[in-house]
Amino acid sequence: MSPLHKTRTLPEDATDAALRSDVLKGLTHTPKTLPPKWFYDAHGSDLFEQITELPEYYPTRAEREILVARSDEIAAATRARTLVELGSGSSEKTRYLIDALSELHTYVPVDVSESALTQAGQALVAERPELHVHALIADFTAGLTLPGAPGPRLLAFLGGTIGNLLPVERAAFLTSVRTLLSPGDALLLGTDLVKDEQVLVRAYDDAAGVTAAFNKNVLTVVNRELGADFDPAAFDHVALWDAEQEWIEMRLRSRTGQTVKIPALGLAVDFAAGEELRTEVSAKFRKEGVRAELSAAGLELAHWWTDSEGRFALSLSVVR
Ligand SMILES: C[S@@+](CC[C@H](N)C(=O)[O-])C[C@H]1O[C@@H](n2cnc3c(N)ncnc32)[C@H](O)[C@@H]1O
Repeated sequence: MSPLHKTRTLPEDATDAALRSDVLKGLTHTPKTLPPKWFYDAHGSDLFEQITELPEYYPTRAEREILVARSDEIAAATRARTLVELGSGSSEKTRYLIDALSELHTYVPVDVSESALTQAGQALVAERPELHVHALIADFTAGLTLPGAPGPRLLAFLGGTIGNLLPVERAAFLTSVRTLLSPGDALLLGTDLVKDEQVLVRAYDDAAGVTAAFNKNVLTVVNRELGADFDPAAFDHVALWDAEQEWIEMRLRSRTGQTVKIPALGLAVDFAAGEELRTEVSAKFRKEGVRAELSAAGLELAHWWTDSEGRFALSLSVVR
């Protein structure tokens, strides 16, 4: 059995410069924001897995349906020997691709969550002893260096996670992804689609309150890593649809006027009653928009597949 190989390009400890700088910048900005990558400590990654099983959260089921139906086509179009997956999380849906790619040599899951990578990586090396699994603990927005592995490469970015980047960040991200690819390589991109507002809002505000707990987990992360004194119970979870931007926003609304201390930054942050902190955007897409964004990064959309209800899309761009 090939052992699980792990490489870290992030500092060992989440009290690193990136968290400090994101919290300092985000909480002194008007309106206040925090980037979504800080949701995903071990608890946050577990909560996300629970979200994927909620009745309201259709994206995981819809994307799985496409992968079940299309993985053979994706394998035939790419003949990938290396599969790189950004924001791989549990790698649960990825198994359909791994099984279909008959010449696959190496799988490179990339995630900021070490716990998710370790759990998924250990399961995969046990299930598929011939596969080389090289987990990369890294921020996919920070300029990736991939381990040497045989081509052609298929780079997968599933789950609609690309929607968590703002448009300007998406453009930079897709351009950086293009530089990782050579002729014959391909990008498989999962994008959630614009749909009925009620369906979208429910997916981010479930009846059981799991998404609310996930949203508030970012406060727990800042408390633990930077010694802050956020009281998660003093904030309400908010999910709303911005029809102009065509994205869902998750926010935390302060129930009262309060001051939060963040000793590691020497910072005291005032929240007015009702003030909101934006913790995530999740953009929803249309086919022509995806095609245009790919094209602006030098990528040509070759295939577009949706689930049977037209809720979610997978697109494949092959580099010529
Ligand atoms: C929405 S989840 C999707 C997980 C999985 N791909 C799926 O489809 O179910 C986003 C994943 O991306 C990871 N992630 C978020 N921001 C990241 C970043 N900047 N760099 C690397 N991983 C990131 C999270 O830890 C999480 O596992």
